[in-house]
Amino acid sequence: MFDMTPERAIELDAEARRILRLNDRGGYTVPTAGLYPYQWNWDSAFAAYGFAAFDIDRAWTELETLMAGQWENGMVPHIQFHVADPGYFPGADVWGTEDAPGKGAGRVASSGISQPAVAASFAWRIYRKDPGAGAARVRALFPRLVAFHRWFMAARAESGAVAISHPWEAGRDNAPDWDEAMAGVVPEGVAPYTRRDTGHVDPKMRPTKEDYDRYIWLVQFGRERGWDDAAIAAESPFRVADPTLTFTLMRACRDLGLLAEALGEDRGEIDGWIARLEAGAETLWNPEIACYDARNLRTGQLSGCVSNASFLGWWGGLRDGQPVDTLHRIFDAAPYSVPSHDPASPKFEGLRYWRGPVWGIMNMMVGVGLAEAGLIEEAARVRADTARLISERGFAEYFDPHDGTPAGGGTFTWTAAIWLGWASPNAEEL
Ligand code: GLC
Repeated sequence: MFDMTPERAIELDAEARRILRLNDRGGYTVPTAGLYPYQWNWDSAFAAYGFAAFDIDRAWTELETLMAGQWENGMVPHIQFHVADPGYFPGADVWGTEDAPGKGAGRVASSGISQPAVAASFAWRIYRKDPGAGAARVRALFPRLVAFHRWFMAARAESGAVAISHPWEAGRDNAPDWDEAMAGVVPEGVAPYTRRDTGHVDPKMRPTKEDYDRYIWLVQFGRERGWDDAAIAAESPFRVADPTLTFTLMRACRDLGLLAEALGEDRGEIDGWIARLEAGAETLWNPEIACYDARNLRTGQLSGCVSNASFLGWWGGLRDGQPVDTLHRIFDAAPYSVPSHDPASPKFEGLRYWRGPVWGIMNMMVGVGLAEAGLIEEAARVRADTARLISERGFAEYFDPHDGTPAGGGTFTWTAAIWLGWASPNAEEL
């Protein structure tokens, strides 16, 4: 740990708790006011992890509202539009999921795609923290979590690894990993639209117009097919197997298996998913860059990108053949690690979202995975870099890996959450 006084740590703990309360909209938490005014899927699961450090009841409530938005087919949408906000685009009307057959009647307005399935991992951690208080609540959530994973395996895992149907599904919106696949999307016929994100944040920290046109084109494409997963898988020009989705689901299945044991439920089906995901992960190994990579399922091409998701295998529970040498190279290239894209790559941009910046939540998963695998020095480096960024630069959405410049939104929920759960000197990693 780098040098931080106990007083400073206490101050930051208080600030992190204040941010979670500030972004609490009553039962669910927004990532940050203005830029992201709704409930996002994996943000919400991280928020629960943060709340668990000081309010277990509120932590369970967060997971409950998240899973209450689950579609009838098992999908948990990446955004739930609880209260309409004109400051965000694309809103519920653009997604047009209201009559999607997979959704089912009477559910909250939502997007039509999902996001990394981290909910079961945090449900397990929160339950373990206080099994007495959590038993009834986790028992009620368990069948929903199983249905969510079953949906992912059926709707996105045709290659063994887990695929995204839209860059937003990976949670790494504009990562260079998708560039080649996105070039195959011709954004013709996109209805005129006005971006709102660039009204909240400097455009040079956000995706480009070329990206945005394709994001919206892919939304229209899904909507025209009634968000039918099979039709989208068969017909979309964009289909990329992704290490983020693959390793987070692998980890979430392991944690769901532990929950099943604790609840006396059968874990046979879950073990089958883990085996399939382990085999699928091998298809993402890129020997040329010596780490995990994304694979365009339309061409079979690996993207050639070293990202922070390249180092999630440890979090996924894998131990053999992990990319420790590549991680050391990245550590040397980025004073604040782990960058979302290799600083040595011509595509690297230190402030542009997922094309370079450091993200606290990715660091938490990489760091915890490293620690579990016994790579203590590497784990300590990731944790210290994260703590230093937050302590010196605040609870920003992301940070420049060279000089630590804070970027994107401020007072950010998941940055506060991983501080409380993991990066703070006072955190008891759940
Ligand atoms: C951005 C991020 C995504 C996150 C969302 C809300 O779209 O790329 O991962 O879930 O913002 O914070």
